[in-house]
Amino acid sequence: MTGGYDDRDGHIWMDGKMVEWRDANVHILTHALHYASSVFEGERAYNGKIFKSREHSERLKRSAEMIDFEIPYTIDEIEAAKAEVLAASGLQDAYVRAVAWRGAGPDMGVASARNPVRLAIAAWEWGAYYGDAKMQGAKLDISKWKRPSPETIPSHAKAAGLYMICTMSKHAAEAKGCSDAMMYDYRGYVAEATGANMFFVKDGEVHTPLADCFLNGITRQTVIGMLKDKGITVHERHIMPEELEGFEQCWLTGTAAEVTPVGQIGDWHFEVGALTREIATDYEKLVRS
Ligand SMILES: Cc1ncc(COP(=O)(O)O)c(C=O)c1O
Repeated sequence: MTGGYDDRDGHIWMDGKMVEWRDANVHILTHALHYASSVFEGERAYNGKIFKSREHSERLKRSAEMIDFEIPYTIDEIEAAKAEVLAASGLQDAYVRAVAWRGAGPDMGVASARNPVRLAIAAWEWGAYYGDAKMQGAKLDISKWKRPSPETIPSHAKAAGLYMICTMSKHAAEAKGCSDAMMYDYRGYVAEATGANMFFVKDGEVHTPLADCFLNGITRQTVIGMLKDKGITVHERHIMPEELEGFEQCWLTGTAAEVTPVGQIGDWHFEVGALTREIATDYEKLVRS
């Protein structure tokens, strides 16, 4: 049986070396643990190959720059490290987590420029992120927390600090029997779920919130490309909550979520329709092609 995430067999790449899974630890006075000076990536490998691997490594580097530190490895070095981790895991289909953070060092206040920047990469088996919602359509709560303005926080970074409100939103959603929560942004527009982007269908056209204050997901960009290749019109725009009433279908996209249909958001209902199914199937084919 698999134990907790800290109690498994295998190896984790840490600062240039493969270390025993259970020994991949940090000191309690790690800056990131206190001040959220951490960025990460969530990636999936299919048939032994990480989908859009380089895009993820590039985003990791960019996220770090956005929160004011530099990862001391090149994109090629990160790519090689991920390949090493995946090979060592023996997994063909895996979730790959790269995380970079300001470690323990001479500084323990808010400023931490002298502390070392560290990088670790782990891989594990991870099935459907929303379980059987993938077939029936997920049920989403509406979060009381709003995606913050880019003037408040670097909202385009995949940075740990941005997930504090996601964790709270998802806990509240799960307590109500929902799979996840939809979040509005600071202006009141529909934004995204706690770890996935959103798409809506109306009259054969697709509408997705403009990613101007949240993560412009790699899956989101992939799916927009797939839709356009099919000749389907995609509107990237600000979406008001009252428009949800008129949308027929809804799905989520994300590396972990892949393409997951949504059946309900609050009191709004959606059908798991033909286009949703088609995009989900096409995405599955694409990641394995
Ligand atoms: C908050 C948030 N939005 C969107 C996404 C989707 O991003 P991607 O498709 O790059 O995985 C994720 C997942 O990484 C996420 O955590």
